[in-house]
Order: sequence, then C-alpha cells, then structure tokens
Amino acid sequence: MTKKRVFSGIQPSGRLHIGNYVGAMRNMIALQDDYFCIYGIVDYHAMTVHFNPQEIESSILDCAIDYLAAGIDPEKSVLMVQSAVSEHTELAWILNTITPISWLLRVPTFKEKREQNPDYVNMGLLDYPVLMAADIVLYKAAVVPVGDDQLPHLELTREIVRRFNTLFGQVFPEPKAQLGEVRRILGLDGVNKMSKSLDNCIYLDDSKEEIWKKLSTAVTDVRRKRRTDPGNPEDCNIFTMHKAFSKKEDIDYCSRECQAAGIGCLDCKKILLENMYYELEPLQKKQSDLRNNRQYVLETLGDGKRKAKEIAAQTMDEVYTKLGIKTYHQ
Ligand code: TRP
Repeated sequence: MTKKRVFSGIQPSGRLHIGNYVGAMRNMIALQDDYFCIYGIVDYHAMTVHFNPQEIESSILDCAIDYLAAGIDPEKSVLMVQSAVSEHTELAWILNTITPISWLLRVPTFKEKREQNPDYVNMGLLDYPVLMAADIVLYKAAVVPVGDDQLPHLELTREIVRRFNTLFGQVFPEPKAQLGEVRRILGLDGVNKMSKSLDNCIYLDDSKEEIWKKLSTAVTDVRRKRRTDPGNPEDCNIFTMHKAFSKKEDIDYCSRECQAAGIGCLDCKKILLENMYYELEPLQKKQSDLRNNRQYVLETLGDGKRKAKEIAAQTMDEVYTKLGIKTYHQ
C-alpha cells in the first residue's frame, strides 16, 4: 500500500528555537517512518514581510541544515525549496479564485501583521494562507505537523479544499493538523510565546553556556517569591520545558520537590539544562558538519526539487483536467 503523505513548511527567516523544535519539528521527524513526507523551506512565505535578497540565499541553506541536523532523512523524505517548484504558485492562483477575501481578512496572523506593520500590508500577506493551502494540497497531504499557532491556517485550508471539491469534483483530501505533545513553550519571559522578535528564545545552536545564561534568569512561577515558598509547577514555563526535554523521573522529581520547597528554581533549571543539552548537543554537531558540506546540502535540495516536482505535476494534471484547460497543456 502506498504511504499517506505529509507536508510541512518552515520559513527561512533565521535561527530555529526550541519552540519550533518541540512544537513542530519533532513530529516532522517522527512521521517519516509511517508516511511519505515532503518538507518545504517556504521562501515565498518569507517574502511577505521585509526581506533582504542578500541574506535569503544563506538563510535557506541554514534552514536546510537545521532540518537535516534535527533528523530529516533525505533517504526517506523529500526536502525542497518552495520557489523551486513552480506548481506551488500555480495552484495558489487557482485557489485564489475560489477563496473569498472575507475568509482571509479574519485570519489572526494577518490581523497581527497588519497591526505590527501598517505601512506594508501587501497582497502576499493577505494571500499567505492560500499559498500555504496550495503547499499542502499540491501533494495531497493527509497530515500536517505544525505548531498550534498554525491551526487557523489549517482550518482555512480545509475550507478551501471543500470548496474546490464541490465546485470542480473531488481532487484533494482534507488535511489534518498534528500538534506536538508539548504544544507551546513560552519565551524566557514566561508570558509571551517564544519568538525571535521578542528576543526571548533558546536557539537550537546556542552553546551550553549560552543556554545556562538564559535559563538562569528565565521567569519561573511568579508566585514563588522565596526559596522556602512551595512552587506551582503547572504555572511554570521551566516545568513545561522539563516536560519537553526531561525523562519522567526528573519531571516527577522536580514537580514533587518544587511543591515541597525541597529544591529551588536554580536546582530545577540545572537539571533541565543537562537534559536539554543532551538532546541538542548531537544536533549541533551535525549542524557544524553540514555547514562544512554545502555541496551535500545543495544536492539534497536538488534531489528534493525533482521528487517534489514529479508529484506536483501529477496533481496539476488532475487540476487542469477538472478546470477544463488540460487540452492546452500538451
Ligand atoms: N505558515 C507556516 C509557519 O509560519 C509555514 C508554512 C508555509 C507551512 N506553508 C506551510 C506549514 C504548509 C505547514 C504546511 O510556520
């Protein structure tokens, strides 16, 4: 039986942080055995905000390196650059023609970006979710591993799919989001989501010393004012990080001893540091190997492009047939 397909995308907009890793990337890696996975570096999406043509080439390469270092295996999965497979934007155009503007105006990320950057509300920003829908359905993906901030986009994709299938006939399956076990890690401030623009991140390539510098001053349970106060692990972002990185014994130990004021926040953070770095260290080693092997990364992306294109062309054939223009594509 052929495997069901998975698609997910990451924007090449800088270093990945542990929130990206825990929220989406781990699932992307785990799904590789049971699904045929296509993972895209979505450069056209990155171009909807100010971007620097001098930097994007290396950002794409860094992003590919991060994927590979984290465990995306090109023997099993396809790793590709979105703009290299022109079917993404071709399909986006077609989906544009069946998507009411009113659906796009209510997307939360659009509203946020419009507020953050009122001078640069471009069509691409509004259209972002349609291109994302095209990314997914071009490969008829059934499952989409993403962080929880992407759920409104996924819901919109499903609506567009239903509309397409009703208007033109069944082509696309309705994709489902798959969220990480630990859905969301907050930033070091313990309040906002982890985000590069807020400067509250732990990055995948931070050294152990850097991580410790960040963890040691990170906000914990705000009600625990003194070392002798019992703490509330469920209200502590450090404890959330434990759930994402530590073994069960350590999670249980920290929870119990925090509530009994048996350990202080720094003790708890030291245990977290060890567990977190245990997972990040091999990843960082692979990152630096890959940085010295640019040729290999470029070849992997070239291969990915060819494999992706093959599937994309098949889907577009079906789409053009349903739209009644296939005759002119011979
Ligand atoms: N919007 C996603 C993000 O910022 C990136 C993305 C683009 C994506 N296309 C996708 C994710 C398709 C999943 C599937 O994280």
